[in-house]
Amino acid sequence: MRFVQLTDPHVVPQERQPVHKFNTADRLRCAVAAVNRLRPAPDFVVMTGDLTNDEQASSYRHVKTLLSELTVPCHVIPGNHDARKPFREVMLGESNSHPQVLTETFIHGECRFILLDTLDEGQVTGVVDSGQLAWLEDILSSNDSRSVVVCMHHPPVVLGVQWLDDLMLQDAHQLLDILDANESVKMVLCGHVHHDFCVARKHYLVHTCPAVSVQFRKEPLPSPAESPLSLMTDDPAAFRIIDVTDGNFETTIHSVPDYP
Ligand SMILES: [Fe+2]
Ligand SMILES: [Fe+2]
Repeated sequence: MRFVQLTDPHVVPQERQPVHKFNTADRLRCAVAAVNRLRPAPDFVVMTGDLTNDEQASSYRHVKTLLSELTVPCHVIPGNHDARKPFREVMLGESNSHPQVLTETFIHGECRFILLDTLDEGQVTGVVDSGQLAWLEDILSSNDSRSVVVCMHHPPVVLGVQWLDDLMLQDAHQLLDILDANESVKMVLCGHVHHDFCVARKHYLVHTCPAVSVQFRKEPLPSPAESPLSLMTDDPAAFRIIDVTDGNFETTIHSVPDYP
């Protein structure tokens, strides 16, 4: 089984591009084309949040149009640059939407996938509320021997870069206690930090993923940051490929050069 993690496209419509100095819509279009060219082809894509940069319905419509070019299904969860109401209305086609959390679980091949919603509206940091924690425990307790992959926007672990660690999941120990107690959990895939980190915990690895939009600095923040651009590098867009074979997980980062 092969799947792809795309994250943090931060899209706005073309008339409001670029986002800082990067055309994020073009970068998502290129990433989608690169996913479609992969061989073997993935079975599906998971997009782990920050779909838009401004939480506007017009931005979600543009994301949806760009993702419609994918030749495989795409599962989406929000990040801190999302808002649940337009997200639900545009991405999920819901009317009279209520801003409830956007969780999902499904089985694919030998794995169970659990998608969490860490959006804390109005905050850059994230939370997993008590309802989701109970839902997660229920799913894990009834899981058979399948390997579990958890997908979420905010990383629940310290990465060792202070300015990023200040923006993480709050009260992460509540989630980690549950994951640590369930040996079926093999992989946690996160976005938010626009960079590739890997942290090993008991029986699972926590990976973060480079962004589709723009990569952040991995080194300490210049203090104080002169502008948003001082947080960013010129590295290309990228995404994560995950291959699962007989319980073995292999993952690589795939860079996406800009092209017209
Ligand atoms: Fe982001
Ligand atoms: Fe984020």
